[in-house]
Amino acid sequence: MKRIVVLISGSGSNLEAIINSCNSNVIYGKVISVISNNPEAYGITRAKESNIDVKIINHKDFLKRIDFDNELEKNLEDLNPDLIVLAGFMRVLGKKITNKFNKKMINLHPSLLPLYPGLNTHEQVLKNKNTLHGISIHYVSPKLDSGPLIAQGEINVKKEENINELSNRIHKIEHLLLPEIINEICIGNIYLDNGKVVFKYSDSIDPTYVPIYKKYHEI
Ligand code: GRF
Repeated sequence: MKRIVVLISGSGSNLEAIINSCNSNVIYGKVISVISNNPEAYGITRAKESNIDVKIINHKDFLKRIDFDNELEKNLEDLNPDLIVLAGFMRVLGKKITNKFNKKMINLHPSLLPLYPGLNTHEQVLKNKNTLHGISIHYVSPKLDSGPLIAQGEINVKKEENINELSNRIHKIEHLLLPEIINEICIGNIYLDNGKVVFKYSDSIDPTYVPIYKKYHEI
């Protein structure tokens, strides 16, 4: 059973999807702790309702970015997780901490990277009239939203769709794909070796088609 720590900043709907998947054995792992940089994050309530330990490391309590990173690093070292999942965690992490945990830290990003790293991805998709949108899951590297890619999920953008509708559909596929990928990592089918993602053959992963790419056009 792998030990998972989830980092959040807001609603925590992905955190809840991960917790539920652990509870129903879809993920061979357990969320041992949740860390939030935002004391008001609703995800804190979700974690507590599931009796999961929560640590708040408020970035506003630190003058320098590196001091926040160091405090986070110390907490992660103490927790000694097998996997750290950034699920709606809205702080950019520095080189030292990302290098230290690069083999065990993954990020969920709401766009089809390398398109739209950073914020406001749904706005940009609508503004540019893109017909496709989606999510990416990747190992974390010092450069924002650009570490080695593990998996992507794609949806069609509907005509006349507003930002809330689009964001809701993105959330739906996040809740499906993220737990699936976390489990593949927990059971050892996916790992990082020398900066490259290794995909082991299994019933659920065909190594000919990697990084994993799934189309959710029915959603
Ligand atoms: C997700 O869409 C994630 O991709 C983005 O922030 C959102 C977080 O949602 N980085 P939640 O907090 O998991 O509900």
